[in-house]
Amino acid sequence: MKKDFKKTFYLLFLLSSLLVIFIANVTPEVYDYLPKLPWPLRVCPKYTAVRSITPLNNTYHFMVSAYMDRRVKGFDVRIISIFKRDSIQPLYCLFCCAGQLSDTVPAKIVQHSDNFGFPFVTTDVMCPIPGNCDATHVTLQTQPVRTNALNQIWLPIGNKKSKGHEERKLQFNFTVCISNLFGDYNNVLQFAQTLEMYKLLGVDRVVIYNTSCGPDLNRLLQSYTKTGFVEMVPWPIDLFMNPSRGWLFSRSGGDLHYFGQLTTLNECVYRSMERSRYVLLNDIDEIIMPYKHNNLMSLMNTVQQQSPKAGVFLIENHIFPKKHFEPTGRFHLPQWSGVPGVNILEHIYREEPDREKYHPHKMIVQPRLVEQVSVHEVLKTFGAIYTVSPDVCRIIHVRVPLRGQLKLEELKEDKRLWDFHEELIPNVDKALRRAGLLGSEGGR
Ligand SMILES: *[C@@H]1O[C@H](CO)[C@@H](O)[C@H](O)[C@H]1NC(C)=O
Ligand SMILES: *[C@@H]1O[C@H](CO)[C@@H](O)[C@H](O)[C@H]1NC(C)=O
Ligand SMILES: *[C@@H]1O[C@H](CO)[C@@H](O)[C@H](O)[C@H]1NC(C)=O
Repeated sequence: MKKDFKKTFYLLFLLSSLLVIFIANVTPEVYDYLPKLPWPLRVCPKYTAVRSITPLNNTYHFMVSAYMDRRVKGFDVRIISIFKRDSIQPLYCLFCCAGQLSDTVPAKIVQHSDNFGFPFVTTDVMCPIPGNCDATHVTLQTQPVRTNALNQIWLPIGNKKSKGHEERKLQFNFTVCISNLFGDYNNVLQFAQTLEMYKLLGVDRVVIYNTSCGPDLNRLLQSYTKTGFVEMVPWPIDLFMNPSRGWLFSRSGGDLHYFGQLTTLNECVYRSMERSRYVLLNDIDEIIMPYKHNNLMSLMNTVQQQSPKAGVFLIENHIFPKKHFEPTGRFHLPQWSGVPGVNILEHIYREEPDREKYHPHKMIVQPRLVEQVSVHEVLKTFGAIYTVSPDVCRIIHVRVPLRGQLKLEELKEDKRLWDFHEELIPNVDKALRRAGLLGSEGGR
């Protein structure tokens, strides 16, 4: 009796198993409703970073982003971070390997040498990936044991080369990195003119780190984002600390240099590493302008030929004080009268830099040849550094005067921007119109 029951049970079990297998194979849409077998069990990543700034639990530090980087021997991954300098402690990398946790690896913590006296500093955290790990995500812990590992917030690892595509064609020739937008900055006209000038010079992408901006500029940037020319990266640094508006702690106080500019510049170099031939590190009110070539590509072909090993090109900054106007008013255009901001075409007088006093350079870099950057120089590079002659290329920087004591007669006339006016003006009009910022269509 008992034996019979067992037999029937087994038979029923066998039949139902066969039925399940049959349904699973023949009608996949039914299979979707059957409980999926939890194998292989994916334990990570449960939480992935949604913001560009992620506080690191039980520390005073912040993680920003993680990228593959095998250029320094013994390491595979670099986590760009912001560390509190007086609280540096040992940390351990934990990897998510195709859904499974890795063992922890002691991390190498490298503070950038430029901190300008601020308590927080841009820091690279470097780790090797343990063997047999197809790493998709990484995080940091304060303990070598995997405590509370499932609740960790994971950073996706960027710049992973897919197998067989190591020499992928670069998507962009030139990327401009605009480090920080903050306050209620609303200089729309100069912003639109500058972006359109970049386009004419051959820039493919402009990456902008945004803490906050004024209402009209916000509209303009939303509109440029839709076209794919501008890539906005949210940068809510003010939610986590008191960022400084200045560059020197002893002068302006605060937690971190200039809203985290040094961190965002480095982040942008790594973000661009596998997709852009060159990266321009300048501010939005600066245009890196070739004076002997029509665009950036022919400029770079020439200077790169002169210095094939160079990975960093220093470009001298030249200030065009916005208080001096070109006298004929030729480009004082009526359609721009209601658009807030500076009209760069109206400012043609340039200060000669006082080369004794200030470090007047910004940079074009080959991202794959630089390891750490600062604002005016690279901190660590694998290539040579080349200073481009100001006759060949210089920065047009319309702003308040730097050498305010100079009289108009002491400034040099420079109408290089005017060479582009025929294309530039209609393009600026189009961009402003698209954003609803031109004339009667404007929402002002
Ligand atoms: C951070 O620490 C708290 C308290 O120890 C814990 O409850 C929380 O889960 C931790 N979060 C992460 C992301 O590890
Ligand atoms: C980059 O420059 C090369 C040479 O000038 C050109 O052929 C190519 O189309 C450019 N690529 C992009 C994405 O603009
Ligand atoms: C810039 O950041 C502010 C504050 O978070 C946000 O309201 C605004 O939409 C952002 N603008 C763009 C163009 O991303």
